[in-house]
Amino acid sequence: MDQLTRKAPNKSLHTKVFPNRDEAAAFIAAIIAATIRENESEGKKTVLGLATGSTPIPLYNELVRLHKKEGLSFKNVTAFNLDEYYPMQPSSKHSYYYFMRTHLFNKIDLDPQQYFLPNGALPEDELAAHTANYEEMIRKAGGLDLQILGIGRNGHIGFNEPGSTADSLTRVVHLTQSTKEANAFDFGSPELVPDKAITMGIKTILNAKKIILMAWGKSKAEAIRQSIQGAPNTHVPASLLQNHHDVTFVLDEEAASELRNH
Ligand code: PGA
Repeated sequence: MDQLTRKAPNKSLHTKVFPNRDEAAAFIAAIIAATIRENESEGKKTVLGLATGSTPIPLYNELVRLHKKEGLSFKNVTAFNLDEYYPMQPSSKHSYYYFMRTHLFNKIDLDPQQYFLPNGALPEDELAAHTANYEEMIRKAGGLDLQILGIGRNGHIGFNEPGSTADSLTRVVHLTQSTKEANAFDFGSPELVPDKAITMGIKTILNAKKIILMAWGKSKAEAIRQSIQGAPNTHVPASLLQNHHDVTFVLDEEAASELRNH
């Protein structure tokens, strides 16, 4: 594969740049498959943190292909998704629950008892207990082995919008206008996008053993530059990943186009 590997100043942040998103997605899928098989060979389960949005679609397509054509099994996997809109019925075609079932869960052999998303259908007075329980479920599962992330044009990860702090946990957040506009295509207009969401926090993400953030296209290039080459700061939540010991940014050429020395 034609790829460039280089180290960011913090020495543990890797950047891999591919000519296109399909090759990038194949690279990430191979890491996921190797992680599952290695853990399996030691009799262990793999705990994955998963993302939604247009970015992971080629990754999920490749995981489905590996399952159908190359015998990759998800029987020993537990999966926790980053986020869900609030309020949101899981049965709605706008829900991330629906997205995950459509693009991945219904097409692989992952046990339906072993995948979890925040529940956007709960009454407000149950949310504090629910978000605390989500953290507890991840902890009891053994923690996240590998967290997959996309990135918003404003640098958000999950729905951790600018201003989210490094010690934030799973919680209810307000979506910014920029995020509502970016996600409007799915709803018809920004006004129809829910105002809130439930998201894993930055700390929840940083607690993962390994993190892979993927980004495609020119619209992400500036957020990628700030995340990798700017000082870590809460205005660009993805820049806080620089504090993690094992994080890889997997990019296509366009998303990498604003990086210096590229
Ligand atoms: P996208 O969203 O994959 O639809 O660009 C990514 C994100 O907002 O995290």
